[in-house]
Amino acid sequence: MVTANYLVIGSGVAGLTFSVKIAEKFPERNVIIVTKANEDESNTKYAQGGVAIVLDKENDSFKKHIKDTLIAGDGLCKEDVVKMVIKEGPERLEELLLWGANFDVDSSGEFDLGKEGGHSEYRVVHHKDITGYEIERALLMRAHQLPNISILPHHFALDLITNHHIEGADPDELKCYGAYVFNQKTGEISTIKANSTLLAAGGIGCVYGHTTNPVIATGDGVAMAYRAKARIKDMEFVQFHPTALYEAKGGESSFLISEAVRGFGAHLRNAEGERFMLNYDERAELASRDIVSQSIDNELKKSGASHVFLDCTHLDIEAFIKHFPNIYQKCLDNHIDIKSDWIPVVPASHYLCGGIKVSKKGKTTIDNLFACGECSRTGLHGANRLASNSLLEALVYAHNIFKHHVKHEYETADVAIPDWNDEGTTITKEHVLIQHNLKELQALMRDYVGIVRSNKRLYRAKRRLELIHEEVEAFYKESKITTSLCELRNMVNVAHLIVNQSLERKENKGGYFNVDNVKK
Ligand code: FAD
Ligand code: SIN
Repeated sequence: MVTANYLVIGSGVAGLTFSVKIAEKFPERNVIIVTKANEDESNTKYAQGGVAIVLDKENDSFKKHIKDTLIAGDGLCKEDVVKMVIKEGPERLEELLLWGANFDVDSSGEFDLGKEGGHSEYRVVHHKDITGYEIERALLMRAHQLPNISILPHHFALDLITNHHIEGADPDELKCYGAYVFNQKTGEISTIKANSTLLAAGGIGCVYGHTTNPVIATGDGVAMAYRAKARIKDMEFVQFHPTALYEAKGGESSFLISEAVRGFGAHLRNAEGERFMLNYDERAELASRDIVSQSIDNELKKSGASHVFLDCTHLDIEAFIKHFPNIYQKCLDNHIDIKSDWIPVVPASHYLCGGIKVSKKGKTTIDNLFACGECSRTGLHGANRLASNSLLEALVYAHNIFKHHVKHEYETADVAIPDWNDEGTTITKEHVLIQHNLKELQALMRDYVGIVRSNKRLYRAKRRLELIHEEVEAFYKESKITTSLCELRNMVNVAHLIVNQSLERKENKGGYFNVDNVKK
């Protein structure tokens, strides 16, 4: 058994920010970060647009950013959380700068601020169109300088250790003692006992076949917390990004064309070349993400087309290339020259607004267990996240969790934790079953639980899911652990939560639209 003062599951912005802060404060205490792929692989690494922070004192204000966030969240944001997160933005930015992150500045040395959907002002701090890559780089560099942080790449957290694993413990008391972790290189499963555990395991994009997220985004954190009986909330609010690059050959992960490109002046056009967003919302392309995605979905259903277009041909191309070099190059690689060609785009699953319910201190409903970043549900986003509020939320909550740990020392009793028990399991030769179940799951989520839902489709998804769940659980019980099997099991849990919480919602809000909820 390995012991840690702090066990952190995930090495994106949420996990790394907390780890760096706590390790700096308590050099005598140890932090173990387990992360299931290379240490930098995360949704964070792919963030493009930037971090929404009020910096332009002349035109912008906290009040305006708060208002924009509340409007985007469609009445379901927690206002006290919104105010707290937004007001802390500038301080958290200062810290990122101290850790060595660089953000673009204009010719007068001021931050070059971008704009995205739902924002009334320019307030998105960015590093070209690879902001997340830069933040991840700086945080990892700082983490490596701290000797009391150990990062264990290719270590997959399987399950949280709670009272129900411990003989004699009260099964009704919800407390976390760490996690069982699978070393993907050696196949060993170790027990990591920790005084405090932080789930920072990111998003769920891969539950849908078509996503902007990398392949690691399989909802493991939400699923582990759910199995441990933590409260999970707002799962119906899956955010679809309006403009993922449409690639005729399909594919799992889809390259994002940042919303900042629309903030820069690009227009959306349908198959007829019409600038259709003007028919849906007076903010046109800069309406909030839920509205733009639902409008595109409507255009595609009307025309039968597979995609719409993003037209950049009227823009200042030199300036475009300076701000979006990565997007420009990716388009060229796909034989799209944005000077003359429209970019084919389609909505794709992008972000989970709900997740593990946490307090302002990042506490889950399980003692000694915290959650931060995309796997958590803080109440900031309500029914629809305002663009570029997610990195900000992770930074602010990592700080809150840190502050709480400074005041409150966590301990777990000296209990005997059993080793992982895989008696009676055998090495599976049936990987094809995992692949088939996965494809089936992703297809049903795309077809029945997408941007526009109906009760009929949701009930159909529920029935299909029950069968997949039964098959996967049976397979899991008889097989030795593999990453793909565990990810599939987690995605089935997450899909179940999305479908059930969708059925519970009787009113359309933000990113949730069910045709049966429309008042006749
Ligand atoms: P992640 O960065 O996803 O990190 C999760 C970590 O957990 C990873 O290291 C992963 O390997 C690890 N992990 C997962 N499961 C396990 C397990 N079982 N065991 C061990 N480790 C595990 N937001 C913005 O605010 N601004 C933007 O411009 C922006 N652009 C985006 C662009 C793209 C293409 C995408 C996909 C997202 C974007 N977002 C943006 C959203 C934002 O990037 C994420 O919400 C945020 O980075 C999440 O950070 P995180 O630390 O919670 O999770
Ligand atoms: C983007 O750059 O469009 C993504 C921004 C976000 O998801 O917040």
